[in-house]
Amino acid sequence: MEASMPKRKEPGKSLRIKVISMGNAEVGKSCIIKRYCEKRFVSKYLATIGIDYGVTKVQVRDREVKVNIFDMAGHPFFYEVRNEFYKDTQGVILVYDVGQKDSFDALDAWLAEMKQELGSHGNMENIVFVVCANKIDCSKHRCVDASEGRLWAESKGFLYFETSAQTGEGISEMFQTFYVSIVDLCENGGKRPVTNSNASFTKEQADSIRRVRNSKDSWDTLGVKPGASSRCIQTARAQWARLTVLLCLFLGTKSTEPTGSWPCCSTQTSA
Ligand code: GTP
Ligand code: MG
Repeated sequence: MEASMPKRKEPGKSLRIKVISMGNAEVGKSCIIKRYCEKRFVSKYLATIGIDYGVTKVQVRDREVKVNIFDMAGHPFFYEVRNEFYKDTQGVILVYDVGQKDSFDALDAWLAEMKQELGSHGNMENIVFVVCANKIDCSKHRCVDASEGRLWAESKGFLYFETSAQTGEGISEMFQTFYVSIVDLCENGGKRPVTNSNASFTKEQADSIRRVRNSKDSWDTLGVKPGASSRCIQTARAQWARLTVLLCLFLGTKSTEPTGSWPCCSTQTSA
C-alpha cells in the first residue's frame, strides 16, 4: 500500500482520510467548509491564518469515514505555513470565484505548488480533486462561465461543481460526490475514479474546444489557413463533427453547426 493511502481501523468498514482546500484568498474555501459542517454562512471576511484544522465523520455506504480537513490560507504570505500540509492527502477541494477571472486562472499555479511540494515521490493521480466554481449567487458579476470551468476541470479528470456557500447551492452534492469518489479510490487500489460528466475530454480535445470558442472566423474555427485545400478542409470538418458530438454531450445542447458559413473548398493542394 502506498504511503499516502488512508489508514483503516477495521478492514472494509472504517477509513481515515485527509482532505485539503486550495485556491486564492477570498474565493470562499472556509465558507464552503463551514456551510457543510456547521450549516451556516458568515458574510464578514475573516482570512484564514496559515491553516485551519477540523475533523468530521461521514458515512459512505457501509463505511464510517473520519475526515481530517485542512483549510489552507490562500494568501501568498502563508506559503511557508501551508507547504507542510500537502503530503498524504486523498482529496483536494480546489476553489475559484466565478466573478474573479484571476482566481480561475490561478488554479494551474495551485496545482503546480502542490506538485512541487509533493516532490518526485508524490503522485497527483492518486488524489481526488473537486473544482468548486463558487459564489454562483453573484450572477451579475459572473465572468467565468460554467462550460469554461467544467472544461478545465474535466480535461484534467477532476470533478466539477457549481457552488454557493451563501445559499448552500451545490455544497452537499459536491461533498457527497467527493467523499464517495475518495472511498471509491481507496477501494480501487488508489486509482482515481471517472468524472461526473457524460463526456470527458483529452487535453488535446479541450485545447481544440478552447480554440473554437475563441475563433474569429470559420477558418479559425476549423483550424485551417484561408485557402487551404479541399482535402484539408474535409479532414478539419470531420474532426469538428467528432468534437461537436462530444461538446453537445458535455453541454447538454443540440446545436452542432457554427454560426456563419463554412469556408469554401479551394482546389489548391495542401502545403
Ligand atoms: P482565505 O482564508 O483568505 O484564503 O479566504 P477563503 O477562500 O477561505 O474565503 P472565505 O471563505 O473567508 O470567504 C471570503 C469572502 O467571500 C467572505 O466575505 C465570504 O462571506 C464571501 N463568500 C464566500 N463564499 C461566498 C458565496 O458563495 N457567495 C457570496 N456572495 N459570498 C461568499
Ligand atoms: Mg479561509
